[in-house]
Amino acid sequence: MNWDVTVVEETGSTNADLLKSDGPEGSVLVARHQTAGRGRLGRTWHTPKGEALTFSALLRPDAAIPPSRRGWLPLAAGVAVATAVRDLCDLTVSLKWPNDVLHARRKLSGILAEQSASGAVVIGIGLNVSATEDQLPPPGPGGLVPTSLAVAGRPDAEPDALLAAILDDLGRRYDVLRAGGSIRGEYVAWCGTLGQPVRVELPGDKTMTGTATGIDEDGRLLVETVAVSAGDVIHLRLQS
Ligand code: BTN
Repeated sequence: MNWDVTVVEETGSTNADLLKSDGPEGSVLVARHQTAGRGRLGRTWHTPKGEALTFSALLRPDAAIPPSRRGWLPLAAGVAVATAVRDLCDLTVSLKWPNDVLHARRKLSGILAEQSASGAVVIGIGLNVSATEDQLPPPGPGGLVPTSLAVAGRPDAEPDALLAAILDDLGRRYDVLRAGGSIRGEYVAWCGTLGQPVRVELPGDKTMTGTATGIDEDGRLLVETVAVSAGDVIHLRLQS
């Protein structure tokens, strides 16, 4: 994948901008600051000015990845972020399904995938880099507390190096998916949700509890025998 990276000082939401542009595959938009960042399930994503890596990448999976398998794209992005943070920052991280990157049971990064009418998939990534404890937003769904690389003891983390590593890894995993391959093994290895008792808050105010038993071939979380494609997962045991 050849990425074409544009950097802007400030915008509302890099996801919104790339969706609107409907540009070519490989377009990447990095914003030093977002004023209207979007989160999963219609939420907002707030990052203090200049303290986070916020960017989006536009993909055009077209026929190579059928719609049922496109759920793997944000999961691939989660693996890419986790791998980059481990390799560049030497931190222990894990993924909470679908793609929250956790360190010490706190959320370091979130990912939002959105699809345009023309079939483009925009993957937006927000990674808290240098925010101090008092700059971080309040806890999110299920009481999940945010963190940053600085709070995790890595105040010198370099956002540009992280961006390059994440794009490199995401590009390679995208190529695997486009070729009909699987990234399930790598995802499962990163996913701290599996084997845990969880509560899942499903869209529409429904809740279910059970043990997370696996990831199916479309990237959905299996809670006992039920496949979940969207929702907030809360780990009920005291570990990541
Ligand atoms: C979540 O955890 O709810 C997902 C957060 C995704 C945030 C990123 S920041 C870059 C991109 N632009 C947005 O407006 N959102 C995503």
